[in-house]
Amino acid sequence: MMKRYLVTGGAGFIGSNFVKYMLKKYIDIEIIILDALTYAGNLGTIKEELKDKRVEFYKGDIRNKDLVENIFMKHDIDYVVNFAAESHVDRSIAEPQIFLETNILGTQNLLEIAKKFWSIGKNEKGYPIYKTGKKFHHVSTDEVYGSLSKNYSHAVELKLSKEVKKVVEGRENLKTYGTNMFTEKTPLDPRSPYSASKTSSDMIVVAYGETYHLPFNITRCSNNYGPYHFPEKLIPLIIKNILCGKKLPVYGKGDNVRDWLYVEDHCKGIDMVITFGMQNEIYNIGGFNEEENINIVKLTIDKILEIMKKESKYQEILKTDIKNINYDLISYVTDRLGHDERYAIDPTKITTELGWYPETSFEVGIEKTIRWYLDNQDWVEEVASGDYQKYYDEMYR
Ligand code: NAD
Ligand code: TYD
Repeated sequence: MMKRYLVTGGAGFIGSNFVKYMLKKYIDIEIIILDALTYAGNLGTIKEELKDKRVEFYKGDIRNKDLVENIFMKHDIDYVVNFAAESHVDRSIAEPQIFLETNILGTQNLLEIAKKFWSIGKNEKGYPIYKTGKKFHHVSTDEVYGSLSKNYSHAVELKLSKEVKKVVEGRENLKTYGTNMFTEKTPLDPRSPYSASKTSSDMIVVAYGETYHLPFNITRCSNNYGPYHFPEKLIPLIIKNILCGKKLPVYGKGDNVRDWLYVEDHCKGIDMVITFGMQNEIYNIGGFNEEENINIVKLTIDKILEIMKKESKYQEILKTDIKNINYDLISYVTDRLGHDERYAIDPTKITTELGWYPETSFEVGIEKTIRWYLDNQDWVEEVASGDYQKYYDEMYR
């Protein structure tokens, strides 16, 4: 049966990848995109999708009650998939308020309107009853769990449980920097204005589930990387700087650990949770890819050099001599305030319940990502016009 998705934040990094993934995977589908086109949203990112008859785009704010109501009135929405958010920790440290407004109040506005349009009456206890098949999917982050400690200075083998091993194929040499990982039961302990706002939005989603029985799922993922990633975040920023021979700013000692998830694996996980997830459950989605930032930077330098040497046509893109591409570009800069030490996700629940696992190793994912950036320099230039340079100069002065 045809399904209609309201994808908020669909012109941003993960939202656009999700739209592309879904349009390829399903024929009988309609996608309504609602995006305010902030600095992080770009119509160029979804220009092919906008030509698709199955897609309709609305420029606007998830906090705008009239606009969201109009969308629900015009389209019989089956699933809300809420990606729209202020998503950059560094920006949240500089200007926290907009994070609270968009991430908390925006999410609550969407929930309220979904409740209004999906409910068809009340049960004997006064709880709303909803049209069948409706669901609110909220995209959240592992950062709501706070920070894990690093127990090892060098990564050790990550041993998977028997039940997870049965599902996971083609992922060898997994490693970890600690004895603990985030599970869905880990207490919420956000540390930054960004993660505090995401935690609040998660809690308001759960509150609508409890108080109004609104059907929902929440997914909490680790750090994504891949095509269409805005070049303010670590990986696309260093790819961009390497190609120009610019310094690569590494916060603190570069030993903070993130768990990198290839964006397409994430989109697949979201689709599986929307379709098969148990109602009102939370699922963690991780990459089995813990790495220290400094190693991510070095691996990216190595991979770019390898591609440039093997396929010399790519050297035309360089705005620096290839000789300048080496570890000397690395520049240790003042650490981020309240910099979380380590994130690592235990995806046992989604793996064993739904059969999902992160298929893409970092080696494969980073090569795909770098090649995408090499082939799409026009996109980088387009999104990095506007306010990008101003932000960059203020941030890294
Ligand atoms: P992004 O910053 O690239 O994109 C956010 C999109 O939301 C942009 O298109 C922007 O224009 C839009 N937007 C912002 N405010 C809006 C508003 N008020 N109304 C409507 N649209 C608005 O973010 P992303 O990296 O694609 O992240 C998507 C979601 O995934 C976010 O909720 C984020 O918290 C979560 N997440 C991201 C990561 C990651 O590694 N990128 C990791 C964990 C969770
Ligand atoms: P980021 O991509 O901002 O994601 P998050 O803070 O949500 O994890 O940063 C990833 C890691 O890289 C984080 O530990 C901070 C670090 N980092 C740098 O060292 N230098 C940079 O210029 C940026 C943007 C991030």
